[in-house]
Amino acid sequence: MIDSLRFAHVTDIHISERDTSGKPSDSLAACLMRECVAHLNDLSDLDFVLITGDVLDVASIAELDTFLEILEDLHKPWHFVPGNHDGFIDPRHPGALKPHEAVMRVDPRMTKPVPVVQQAFWSRQLSPGVQLIALDTRIADDWAGEIGQAQIDWLRGQSEAHQEDMVIVATHHPLHPLGPHNTRGILHKFICANGCEVEAVLDCHPNVKMVISGHHHTNHLSLVDNDGWQRLRVVTAALGAYPCSYRTIRLERQVSGWRVDIQTHCAADEAMLQMAHERAKASGIAREFDPDSPAAWAAFCEGRPEDLVFHGCLR
Ligand SMILES: [Fe+2]
Ligand SMILES: [Fe+2]
Repeated sequence: MIDSLRFAHVTDIHISERDTSGKPSDSLAACLMRECVAHLNDLSDLDFVLITGDVLDVASIAELDTFLEILEDLHKPWHFVPGNHDGFIDPRHPGALKPHEAVMRVDPRMTKPVPVVQQAFWSRQLSPGVQLIALDTRIADDWAGEIGQAQIDWLRGQSEAHQEDMVIVATHHPLHPLGPHNTRGILHKFICANGCEVEAVLDCHPNVKMVISGHHHTNHLSLVDNDGWQRLRVVTAALGAYPCSYRTIRLERQVSGWRVDIQTHCAADEAMLQMAHERAKASGIAREFDPDSPAAWAAFCEGRPEDLVFHGCLR
């Protein structure tokens, strides 16, 4: 049994050859990933890094090569959960790696079963008494997400098998809506379509203390608070897009539960952040989020002050 662990959550890097950083050698996302990796390497007590998908953008070989080259500099154990951008079957990107090809190249641990959509789920012991369960929310040919019945049944079995352990669940798509916008237009695709069904399974297992997700490109923290137990939902904004975030999370076992301390970091300098902010304002999602205020989406992605820091003990 361990009494504490510290890890980083990095998501939605979106390595792209098209985005310029102003530096001749690197795209913006690549610069941001290098900054993040350098910081994480400096944290001597960091146990591992959790990467929850969309590490690539259009899943070209060039993007993959850049990602793997920077990942090689990360001197910490890491775990990977695939996102909808990690592989494409799209006639507009004929040279793109297919989803299962990209996932196998990013993480050679995921070869059996072949990680086609809905198949890249796994469960690993982080240390005695702490289990990390990854779900595969990807669906074919769409950026929306869902968890099929086979995975729900498997999750139920895993949660039961590890009911004496502290369990962390990782997904690309968040399981819960982040706001009323998630019922509007295409913005529902930011959320796992049957997330409430998955959360109902987790509700039966109070030892699942945390669900960690990306995909929404938004910093968001919320507490599921029930009689006798709590579960923290952690959604982290994109590293490779505004606000260029990643998090460090410390867990400590206490008599009354698990103490959780979360910090949010920004990988960008002022010029990079400005560039990312301009791109966020000009995006189609920003128009969809609030047609009257292009900056509203970027502000939402930043998160409220209470989405950036958490200090508390989960019963
Ligand atoms: Fe993304
Ligand atoms: Fe995504």
